[in-house]
Amino acid sequence: MESPFKAEILKGKVALVTGGGSGIGYEISLELGKHGASVAIMGRRKHVVDSAVHALRSHGIPAIGIEGDVRKEEDAARTVESTFKHFGRLDILVNSAAGNFLAAAEDLSPNGFRTVIDIDSVGTFIMCREALKYLKKGGPGKDPSIGGTIINITAVIHYPATWNQIHASAAKAAVDSITRSLALEWGEDHGILVNGIAPGAIGDTAGVTKLAPQEIVNQLKQKPLYKFGEKWDIAMAALYLASDAGKFVNGTILIVDGGQWLSKPRLMSREEVKKLSRREETRSRVAPAGLPNSKL
Ligand code: HXC
Repeated sequence: MESPFKAEILKGKVALVTGGGSGIGYEISLELGKHGASVAIMGRRKHVVDSAVHALRSHGIPAIGIEGDVRKEEDAARTVESTFKHFGRLDILVNSAAGNFLAAAEDLSPNGFRTVIDIDSVGTFIMCREALKYLKKGGPGKDPSIGGTIINITAVIHYPATWNQIHASAAKAAVDSITRSLALEWGEDHGILVNGIAPGAIGDTAGVTKLAPQEIVNQLKQKPLYKFGEKWDIAMAALYLASDAGKFVNGTILIVDGGQWLSKPRLMSREEVKKLSRREETRSRVAPAGLPNSKL
């Protein structure tokens, strides 16, 4: 789909996207680049990073790839420094790297739980911490009065409880909390905007392939609100937050899921609701003495 944003809205900006080699991270990198940003992507798998850089460059986007693991402070520091060395500034950090798998709480080892917390929550904190020096107002290559932007990719699985996701739910709840704390502290002290994007089920991503096997997908497709989003939907949200359009938005978590997180199973049809509601109203009007009578 064509972007509704002008092609130059990020002209001159430099973005670093963790997990930018594939899935949502790649799509965000592509759209930031198509709107004028230079892009550095970080990922653990060299061949994935290399082919993503190649693809970005084929769109005319100035791009570099850095192999690294967000769990390792030295990798994070090296990535941020390489980005600065190559492009001369850093304006946008997108924390999109994540790890997940399906596991019932009873079957999950402490190390399995810890691994996902380490990638999603600790990794996000490490990247933010290493990038601070370059993102803050007056930092190297930055305007003295305007700081950069951080976008943390989170999820909606921890709003209601989600089966088989105790590890990722805890990890993403921590990511949201990190987003708000940094929005407060770094917004005030350094002029940095920190926001989150919470994607719902997005088709053609590792998240959906790993977490929603085809059998479940087929069941969900019967329910009207359970539409799959596209990676493009998340990239557009990122563009909004990264561009001047989002300059007064700080500490928010933008849910991009078509409203699915609100949905609960419908227990009665509308007709049944009408019938039952009227029956109860009638009954309440003839309530025994001492009980409140409806005035409706
Ligand atoms: C139970 C599992 C498991 C599984 C791993 N573990 N897979 N436990 N069921 N399917 C346990 C291991 O047994 C081990 O614990 C511990 O987790 C660490 O496993 P490793 O394989 O050593 O970890 P590592 O190589 O670091 O790999 C991390 C990973 C892997 C998370 C397990 O899947 C990964 O790298 N994923 C990155 C890509 C990814 O998952 N993308 C999807 C993101 S989707 P023990 O006790 O045995 O030592 C997403 C969306 C969120 O984030 C919300 C969407 C709705």
